[in-house]
Amino acid sequence: MKKHIGLGLFALGVLSACNNSTPVEEPEATQIVETELDGELLMKNNCLTCHGNGDSHETILAPPMRGVKMHYLEDDMTEAEFVSSVVNWVKNPNEENSKMPGAIKRFKVMPKQNFNEEEVKAIAAYMYRNNLPKPEWLD
Ligand code: HEC
Repeated sequence: MKKHIGLGLFALGVLSACNNSTPVEEPEATQIVETELDGELLMKNNCLTCHGNGDSHETILAPPMRGVKMHYLEDDMTEAEFVSSVVNWVKNPNEENSKMPGAIKRFKVMPKQNFNEEEVKAIAAYMYRNNLPKPEWLD
């Protein structure tokens, strides 16, 4: 019984998601990044060493992920757009493509690292879908 309710809600979600968009539907594949990977864990292991919230604003090594998301997420951006914008950065971090010049000034450009692209996609999808933790020192 529970299962049926879940399915019903899921169908409703899909339907209302469709209703919100213009009559010319984009194929769903461009909206949702399919991944089986655990974006939360991957982010913790690969990004939060630098992008973690840290103990204080003085000691952090990079802007917290919540702040990165704020700079990357534009109005009406689909998940796929957000993900490709993060992936593009991670593949080739450079001053020219930065959306956070203030962060570069303070921290220098993010070092280029050999991340697995599928994993970065999962991380970015996780960022898009979830509220990221707010640093304690922010307020
Ligand atoms: C070795 C430390 C380090 C690691 C690990 C790291 N970053 Fe960064 N990252 C930085 C620093 C420092 C900045 C701020 C300077 C800048 O913007 O280049 C930054 C900035 C960014 C930005 C904003 C870039 C801009 O200027 O527009 C994004 C997006 C980003 N990181 C994504 C990631 C993701 C995703 C991961 C994990 C896969 C990751 N980073 C791992 C150090 C790191």
